[in-house]
Amino acid sequence: MTEQVILDAAATLEAGGLVAFPTETVYGLGADAENPAAVASIYAAKGRPNDHPVIVHVAPGADLDYWVSDIPDEARQLVAAFWPGPLTLILKRHAHIPDAVSGGQDTVGLRCPSHPVAMALLSAFKGGKGGVAAPSANKFGNVSPTTAQHVRDEFGPDAGIAVLDGGSSQVGIESTILDLSRLATHGPVLLRPGHISATQIAAVVGAMPVAPDASAPRASGTLESHYAPKAPVALVATAQLDALLNALADKGRRVALIHYSPLLTRAAAQHALPEDPAGYAHGIYAALRAMDRTDAELILVETPPQDDNWLGVNDRLRRSAYGSAGIVERFLQA
Ligand code: TXA
Ligand code: MG
Repeated sequence: MTEQVILDAAATLEAGGLVAFPTETVYGLGADAENPAAVASIYAAKGRPNDHPVIVHVAPGADLDYWVSDIPDEARQLVAAFWPGPLTLILKRHAHIPDAVSGGQDTVGLRCPSHPVAMALLSAFKGGKGGVAAPSANKFGNVSPTTAQHVRDEFGPDAGIAVLDGGSSQVGIESTILDLSRLATHGPVLLRPGHISATQIAAVVGAMPVAPDASAPRASGTLESHYAPKAPVALVATAQLDALLNALADKGRRVALIHYSPLLTRAAAQHALPEDPAGYAHGIYAALRAMDRTDAELILVETPPQDDNWLGVNDRLRRSAYGSAGIVERFLQA
């Protein structure tokens, strides 16, 4: 990608336009965080409820004090340890940040992505002093995009969205979100698990992040149903997979399978992912999209291991499969 392409994209953002850009986690749909009309057009393009806050992406070396009113030491330590990288921090915001960004809450989510194209774009935009509000570049509730083609598939050619192509996103699932806005009363709260683990965070701040309680802020990435392809998704334990695939095939059901065990099965479409959490995360969204493009009526996913290293992956899969309880039984009966 040429420098001119980056400069043009930065100019588009400065003029209030939308730019989809690669990050190391997933592709984002960006707009100037300080331009409420531009931020509103993100919500319109995504079909997303406008009371959901969006993450503000900043350039390496950005001045946190510009965005945040009260920066705890823990935030500075985590920034030093993990930025640029897949960690979003929720902090008390300054009053000048538009409500459209914070969803009306008194906090802002900040992250400095490590993808070279994202860093170049953020450094060019407003001379590196701006913030780019960017949710994942997908329609609300859908699977997040990890390639430029996924973004084009989501919005089509007529949406007026410039797409920067930075190859396939290395991490593959969205950033870890850590709420530090209520440290004194709640400690660090893990709103969304991701590539940067609770253990890694604890090693830096000296306290293990806790799970959100009922008072935690809303986060659309934490809605029960999210990251969902069009065909229903069902998680199936490895030991049950072969028998189930045979039974479904006997019923004439068109089934796609995402697995990591070496299996010899009767699924019509199959997608193998590596049995390591990082490699699996890198490939899972592309796999869900690929299986959704087949004529399968049902996508079976072999349940990954349940240990902590798989927390981010299992979180996303559980939301992809939300609402599919009992679906396998219905397919077997009919
Ligand atoms: O990896 C990522 O985080 C990607 C890339 C593009 O950076 N972005 C992403 O954005 O996943 P999105 O909007 O799809 O998910 C961001 C999540 C949402 O669940 C949102 O509610 C939450 O972050 N969030 C943003 N600001 C927040 C705030 N001030 N308080 C609580 N949650 C917030
Ligand atoms: Mg999203």
